[in-house]
Amino acid sequence: MMKICCIGAGYVGGPTMAVIALKCPSVEVTVVDISISRINAWNSDQLPIYEPGLEDVVKQCRGKNLFFSTNVEKHVYEADIIFVSVNTPTKTRGLGAGKAADLTYWESAARMIADVAKSDKIVVEKSTVPVKTAEAIEKILAHNSKGICFQILSNPEFLAEGTAIQDLLNPDRVLIGGRETPNGQKAVKALKDVYAQWVPLERIITTNLWSAELSKLAANAFLAQRISSVNAMSALCEATGADVQEVSYAVGKDSRIGPKFLNASVGFGGSCFQKDILNLIYICECNGLKEVACYWKQVIKLNDYQKSRFVNRVVSSMFNTVSGKKIAVLGFAFKKNTGDTRETPAIDVCKGLLGDKASLSIYDPQVTEDQIQRDLWMNKFDWDHPIHLQPASPTSIKHVSVAWDPYQAAKDAHGLCILTDWDEFKKLDYEKIYKSMQKPAFVFDGRNVVDVARLREIGFILYSIGKPLDPWLKDMPALA
Ligand code: UDX
Ligand code: ADP
Repeated sequence: MMKICCIGAGYVGGPTMAVIALKCPSVEVTVVDISISRINAWNSDQLPIYEPGLEDVVKQCRGKNLFFSTNVEKHVYEADIIFVSVNTPTKTRGLGAGKAADLTYWESAARMIADVAKSDKIVVEKSTVPVKTAEAIEKILAHNSKGICFQILSNPEFLAEGTAIQDLLNPDRVLIGGRETPNGQKAVKALKDVYAQWVPLERIITTNLWSAELSKLAANAFLAQRISSVNAMSALCEATGADVQEVSYAVGKDSRIGPKFLNASVGFGGSCFQKDILNLIYICECNGLKEVACYWKQVIKLNDYQKSRFVNRVVSSMFNTVSGKKIAVLGFAFKKNTGDTRETPAIDVCKGLLGDKASLSIYDPQVTEDQIQRDLWMNKFDWDHPIHLQPASPTSIKHVSVAWDPYQAAKDAHGLCILTDWDEFKKLDYEKIYKSMQKPAFVFDGRNVVDVARLREIGFILYSIGKPLDPWLKDMPALA
């Protein structure tokens, strides 16, 4: 029986291995992690991550050919193929701080593999890593190999949170990069055979190592760039009276452009986009490509601009001050159908409003109070370095409360900000919400989820990203 081990039981490792186990009943898959609590959660009824469909898949395979364990060494020793799916945060200090990927976790995993292995292994890069990481890892393994043959493959993950299981079951493509040597090609084939159990062969692309690594960064950069492009248009739409949804629709009808990923929003978030673009920028700079680096930097700058533009809109609409005013925040996750808050635009928007002394009442169907408090009081980039967490300042915490339902969040609020596109926010009883709020009652829709005409009819002063402005807002231009 072939044995697969995955180091790192996170958002990528957990779902990916669960689907491999489901589709390859003859392969034994074990996911290992140094975090005891994470592994315990994977072995319980309360999985550590929320992902539609995941529980089903885990329940079908767990205990049969899918296992979760903290015995990292044992399973690495036994495995034929080792996926490495550990965190690769942005460096917070030293050379490349704020841009380069911190490969500490990766390096320690590689050294451990070299220590423990007693037979030939295929080591698969699954985390997003800077181009040429495989080469570095190869060196670590080769210099500690004791005659064992290690083959490094890059197999970047393209799943999106919230649709991870669907993306894994029915991927647009699977990308496998490997060395062009006979052993390298043998390893590529071994991994290809695993995916071929359920993915049509024409969707399994094989490339050289660097192309596979760079393709992942490029794909995320292109996706993020689309969002920044449409968000740039949203500012222009507000200034001129066009409707960004109409513009997106018209633009997306061009088959060369396509309709997906053209929704204007308060900004993109998630663990990948910003991190991968920063990474790309760093690689460009290291290669002396200043103009290329600047080009990609602008995608992030525009995203930051969009978030501060939103905060300014809120403050300026409400007579230029939110000091002491209750503001309801609906949605904290970086997108719907996930409890993940990494780089969520809600963090920057909430921090911006708190900076203007607002009192926030936050509701999200999947994010815990603990998580919200932690996110609001740590520094940027700290989320991937849990050990460096600073305790929250007691005075600031007083201005944030977490509500159990949206109606409680909105009660007595002056304004309501929608920051995540959860479906339930479309169906709320806005009449009831309006009655319970202070007047004038404002709604700032950062995800274009509410029905503009309906809410205005109820009496709200409504701001929707990139939509023709409420006459009220026209008189109070927001300057970013
Ligand atoms: C992304 C990539 O899609 C995935 O292929 C890669 O493997 C990991 O990074 P993810 O971050 O999980 O996935 O979510 P995604 O659906 O890409 O959304 C990212 C952010 O962009 C979210 O904050 C989302 O709300 C925002 N977004 C997305 C928009 O603002 N507008 C859009 O039109 C689409
Ligand atoms: P991703 O979104 O890329 O899956 P996560 O942060 O969700 O990232 O998951 C990465 C996981 O890797 C964490 O659970 C972390 O504990 C684990 N991890 C990091 N380093 C090691 C290591 N050397 N051995 C085992 N697990 C590790």
